[in-house]
Amino acid sequence: MDQTTRILAIETSCDETAAAVIENGTTILSNVIASQIDLHAQYGGVFPEVASRRHIEVIHPVVMQAMNEAHMGFDDLDCLAVTQGPGLVGSLLVGVNMAKGIALGRHKPLLGINHIEGHIYSLWLSRKAAEIEFPILTLVVSGGHTELYLMTDHGRYKHLGGTLDDAAGEAFDKVGRVLGLPFPGGPAIDKAARLGNPNAYQFPRAVMEDGFNFSFSGLKTAVLRETQKHPGSMRLNDLAASFQAAVIDALVTKTERAAAAHGVTAVHLAGGVSANSGLRQAMSEQISVPVFYPPPILCTDNAAMIGAAAHWHYVNGRRNSLDFDVIPSLQLA
Ligand code: KG4
Ligand code: ZN
Repeated sequence: MDQTTRILAIETSCDETAAAVIENGTTILSNVIASQIDLHAQYGGVFPEVASRRHIEVIHPVVMQAMNEAHMGFDDLDCLAVTQGPGLVGSLLVGVNMAKGIALGRHKPLLGINHIEGHIYSLWLSRKAAEIEFPILTLVVSGGHTELYLMTDHGRYKHLGGTLDDAAGEAFDKVGRVLGLPFPGGPAIDKAARLGNPNAYQFPRAVMEDGFNFSFSGLKTAVLRETQKHPGSMRLNDLAASFQAAVIDALVTKTERAAAAHGVTAVHLAGGVSANSGLRQAMSEQISVPVFYPPPILCTDNAAMIGAAAHWHYVNGRRNSLDFDVIPSLQLA
């Protein structure tokens, strides 16, 4: 019997239209991502209605390209997977309806997958799966989330803490706008920060109380106040470096605290902000257990990670009926 499992995964939760074919939960046969960043840059953020319309335009060619690059027909698939939430309702609907159409037409099972769980499983595409040993601490840092999860087995998560206000990526994007940088702010601040002095400004760290929660809105306001003090003569690189250092400090402090408290074998970083070069370096230097992160293409939104997460559900026998709905505020644990 052929033990190989092939899954076509679709991801449309925000501003990337993506499809991928994943083999055995760990091998990427294709990974197609149509980014809408250029489209939304003129608005300084993701415009939900514009995003869903663009998803409708490109979803079919993106899926067909993923199948072609994997040299596969729909009948070769074992299962389909699609992001069910969290995300923008109109965007999620486009992916879910496309996936349902293929599953129904080809008599294939379809699994609805949590987008955050997808980010967590991007590490199974980035490390040797056989070397991954539970328990693991995963820090998911993206545009919408800053969450610490203790993972004790496949599909078993304990939410240790998260942001009380802005997500880390959201703070990068908002501060990027204040500094006059192009959208999204994260990569632009990362680049500017490399040329600046991280100690030029002492921004608040918000490493409050004993728990594992985060807060970034005070930091964002502090940067805004600093820029208003000297309009016209902003030290852009120093502001970027000092802001980034404050975000990294808070993330590293809480992550180390959680890693020590729970005796994990490793720390996994996932989500768009885990592409940040300063964060990767600080985590690798300051965390007491080995730290792993995905290559940049698997940090930001993609469908390969959705296929990797779906694999473990599929082999554990989970099946959905096809009448499930999108859940824009879906929780993981
Ligand atoms: O995971 P993702 O693609 O989407 C969500 O699920 O939210 O993350 C997008 C976020 C944006 O806020 C973007 O500014 C941030 O990831 N980001 C970065 C970097 N690259 C992307 N933030 C800091 N440094 C980067 N190099
Ligand atoms: Zn994401």
